[in-house]
Amino acid sequence: MKSSASPRMTQDQKVRLMFVCLGNICRSPLAEAAFRAEVRKAGLSDAFEIASSGTGEWHVGKQADQRMRETAHRYGMSLDDHRAQQFNAGHFADFDHIFVMDKNNLHDVLFLDRKEQHANKVRLFREFDPEPDDYQVPDPYFGGRQGFEIVFSIVQRTATELLDRLIKEYDLKPAAEE
Ligand code: 4NP
Repeated sequence: MKSSASPRMTQDQKVRLMFVCLGNICRSPLAEAAFRAEVRKAGLSDAFEIASSGTGEWHVGKQADQRMRETAHRYGMSLDDHRAQQFNAGHFADFDHIFVMDKNNLHDVLFLDRKEQHANKVRLFREFDPEPDDYQVPDPYFGGRQGFEIVFSIVQRTATELLDRLIKEYDLKPAAEE
């Protein structure tokens, strides 16, 4: 994986990840929670800073979508503490990797990179999906419950694979579950 951060991190440096979708109430909060859960299982919480945001401003300050929260809850994951925030150009400096859910997000995030300095840290999240289909996490917002289930399974398996890849890239040492 190309990275602007050095793969050799000193002990107190964290790998900083930002997950981005449109509203920051469905897909990226789930990606944040799923990745956080994987990190905790691997005993690596201290090695990561994990956040999420949306390219749109409509839902800033709101909780995650009720349907996404219910789906996550069924699989033992809580999104209750999440509050939506909007992605801004300052986040390019604050994060080492920015994983976007679809190609519109990719376009909107790169549009904010006015000097074209940060494109190397912006990737489609599903590049890490073992079954990537069209490399996008489908937007479930205007669909039915089934869409949230599909998003959950895509995000869960991709988060697992992403952590494996980052463990290798940064030479991290997984420990017992925290
Ligand atoms: P998300 O889903 O980008 O996965 O959080 C959406 C949330 C809200 C809207 C669209 C998608 N919206 O149009 O308000």
